[in-house]
Amino acid sequence: MNKTRPEWTSHLSFMLASIGGAVGLGNIWRFPYIMGKNGGAVFLVLYLIIIAFICAIPLCLELAMGKIYKKDPVSVYEAISPKLKIFGFASILTAILIPCFYFVVGGWILNYIWLFLTNNIPSDFSVYFSALNSNPYVPCLLTLLFLIVTAIFPYRGINSGIEKANNIMMPLFAFMLVALAIYAVTLPNAKEGLEFMFNPNFEKFTADMVLCALGQALFTLSIGMGAMMTYGSYLKPETNIKKSAYTLIFFDTLIAILAGVVIFPIVFSNGIEPTAGATLVFISLPQIFVNMPFAIPVAVIFFLLLLFAAITSGISLLETSVCCLVDHYKIKRKKAVVIISAITALFAVPSALSFGLLADFKIFDKTFFDFLDYITSNFLLPFGTLLICLIGGWYSRNIAKEAFGTDLFGKVLDFLLRFVVPVVFALVIYTGLN
Ligand code: PHE
Repeated sequence: MNKTRPEWTSHLSFMLASIGGAVGLGNIWRFPYIMGKNGGAVFLVLYLIIIAFICAIPLCLELAMGKIYKKDPVSVYEAISPKLKIFGFASILTAILIPCFYFVVGGWILNYIWLFLTNNIPSDFSVYFSALNSNPYVPCLLTLLFLIVTAIFPYRGINSGIEKANNIMMPLFAFMLVALAIYAVTLPNAKEGLEFMFNPNFEKFTADMVLCALGQALFTLSIGMGAMMTYGSYLKPETNIKKSAYTLIFFDTLIAILAGVVIFPIVFSNGIEPTAGATLVFISLPQIFVNMPFAIPVAVIFFLLLLFAAITSGISLLETSVCCLVDHYKIKRKKAVVIISAITALFAVPSALSFGLLADFKIFDKTFFDFLDYITSNFLLPFGTLLICLIGGWYSRNIAKEAFGTDLFGKVLDFLLRFVVPVVFALVIYTGLN
């Protein structure tokens, strides 16, 4: 095939890059709260079963599709069947839409790092955060700054950009996460926080919880939009897909749990109600940090942690569409990065203004930011995942063979792929749209 196409220099580099792509805001600001609210340890067990026996399947398939065809998502679908090419474009559309809201959060993170580094700390973060967002320029500039910081890595290429970034940022990320977790569990009342997250509560076991676990698993593993396919396309031929996918799942889950071990002891030791998302990260936690021992270093480390998680995920998002321009349209990498960044900037600006200037501009009753989040998480990702399962399970069986191997466990996964998993994702799409 294409001799000049880059490959990961080592298996470790691939693992760090794919873990970097998967570990993002989803792990830090969503998973711990979902787990705490949905029955603690009971939810964790259910989540582990779902991720190991359901979501691992499309993850293996995506990596295998990339590894077999060694191309971008559009070309992969086209190679499977020219009729399927349109679905490749749907993946690229998803890969363009997610950064348009994800990078707005990246901009806020940069802003908060600056606040704490310069010791410019507001007295009320709730007031500060809404003032920040009602400014017509600042959120846009911050988003663009985050876009530029992230785009530098795909611009420099697979080995000297993406690989290097992950090789440096992921070990640092792990080190800072463990350091913060040790700090958090030594706080007074840390036990209460850990109880909120881990205490098993069977009463909270509902059908909704299953859907919630499925949605979270897809988003956190970045399945259904070609990111893993793209990273898989740079794999060496001897890579074992199944082993790599489960290693990735193990670390993604471990990091999500550790994030909770950092967050909830801090929240509970200050007698604050647990929350999630932007409120948790940009209002509740910073407000708490200010009154804690080692406030500035703790806050800076926490926001650096978020920054690394967001950048490494952002890189995988940009690389998916960049790879399509490079492989499918034969555009030079540097030019491709500039084109994709310009398109992202165009849609990210209205999304950055969704909390201020454009707060009243609604699509289906949602701000532009919320609409992008909703349509990608509830429709585009599950739809892309269902499609991959149908192709691997029924249409192009060589993909499943590459993904699962021929051992007994591989056979179990293949059975689930054909008869169980597509039904599950069809249900996810159905309920997500209702
Ligand atoms: N997995 C990332 C997270 O958990 C988000 C993401 C989704 C990245 C889809 C790429 C593709 O935050």
